[in-house]
Amino acid sequence: MSDSIDIALTVNKAMRRVTVPAGETLLETLRERLALTGAKRGCNQGVCGACTVSVDGRPVRGCLSLTANCDGADIVTIEGMATDGTLGRIQAALEQTGAVQCGFCTSGMVIAAEALLRTNPNPDVAAVQAGISGNLCRCSGYRTIVDAVLLAAAGGRG
Ligand code: FES
Ligand code: FES
Repeated sequence: MSDSIDIALTVNKAMRRVTVPAGETLLETLRERLALTGAKRGCNQGVCGACTVSVDGRPVRGCLSLTANCDGADIVTIEGMATDGTLGRIQAALEQTGAVQCGFCTSGMVIAAEALLRTNPNPDVAAVQAGISGNLCRCSGYRTIVDAVLLAAAGGRG
């Protein structure tokens, strides 16, 4: 008996169908089957947040999520954050504050920050720090990232 499962997902507004082993993670499906490599495999154990993607509007760890549990889900990855080549508000603000260094954490940070601003459009510094606390950055010291989220919340005026 095969342990593969047919799954239908909406990924960045496009319907995708995949047949996956029951134990395949969403991160593996996105990166290896759908060629969406923006979500990164860092720790692969739920600690770093580099694999964060949006599932039904909530940021989740792709490395801890089974694709088999995502049938019918609406998924947004970093590849879906820009519109017609124009960066999303968090991406543009990160560029403006110089927060992208090696960039390994960036896709997860953007997804987490967007989720924060959807629920709290005008966060203070503490709220931003809490909102991205599940996403580790080894380069920036976080200040420029926090500045970017505040800048995006203010409408990009800096
Ligand atoms: Fe998923 Fe680190 S790769 S949390
Ligand atoms: Fe390098 Fe964040 S920019 S880990």
